[in-house]
Amino acid sequence: MTTSATAPTAAPSTQPARVATKRTVLMCRPDFFTVVYRINPWMDPALPTDTALAVRQWQTLYDTYLSLGFDIELIDPVDGLPDMVYAANGGFVIDNIAYGASFTYPQRQPEGPAYMDWFRANGFDVREPENINEGEGDFLLVGGVILAGTGFRSASHSHEEVSSVYGREVVTLTLVDPNFYHLDTAIAVLDDTNIAYLPSAFDEASLAILRERFPDAVLVTEVDAAILGLNSFSDGYNVVIASRATDFERQLRERGYNPIGVDLSELLLGGGGVKCCTLELRR
Ligand code: ARG
Repeated sequence: MTTSATAPTAAPSTQPARVATKRTVLMCRPDFFTVVYRINPWMDPALPTDTALAVRQWQTLYDTYLSLGFDIELIDPVDGLPDMVYAANGGFVIDNIAYGASFTYPQRQPEGPAYMDWFRANGFDVREPENINEGEGDFLLVGGVILAGTGFRSASHSHEEVSSVYGREVVTLTLVDPNFYHLDTAIAVLDDTNIAYLPSAFDEASLAILRERFPDAVLVTEVDAAILGLNSFSDGYNVVIASRATDFERQLRERGYNPIGVDLSELLLGGGGVKCCTLELRR
């Protein structure tokens, strides 16, 4: 390294230009956010939460997406469903088809029908799920391929279901660290060919697949992953990330992306970050 840490990093000439594509996303204002049960290691009902602060932080994410030119749809939050803000879990949407969610834990199960009602009312072709799955928390589209997580939440049978619903290749990846219980806490999709991930979140077989398919992937540090830094949302150029994920930010910049940090510390108390609050609607 001949440059100092603060010097701007010139993009290598071999690096492809990053292209932003306008996204359409579904979000849910955290009006009823709190932590009253524990279904992942991040949640501690004994710790206080500040719903007004959660709403302000969420609003910053919303405003960031607006400034990037995204179309943002909103689903009404429901009193008594504090995790509904994590819209990524509400389903998986490609080609105007919305594969509904069927939640693992009873506390979140009513969210499945609530999101499916919204999809129906907004013109999506809804497919009721036969298997437990938590939507885009565990299904990530990279180019034409669907990466599918299992191990903590979505059942592996849901991967077969998704493959038949969309007629696309589905690659099963097994998560092994309870802190990274959804695929979107362990992998960030940067564009149609590039991802970032946390190697230690996966079993050996899954790691072998990731290394083979994505030899140039960004590998994030445990430190960045420990604040859910991977839980980010990219339009192909702009990558909205946790503001504290500083090494991830550096790596993104070096590769020609434009990282934009936001602070969702309050929503981290529920075990979610940027991506969890974002469901992409692909019509
Ligand atoms: N408290 C929620 C749960 O445990 C957080 C969900 C985070 N969402 C995500 N897409 N990773 O289910």
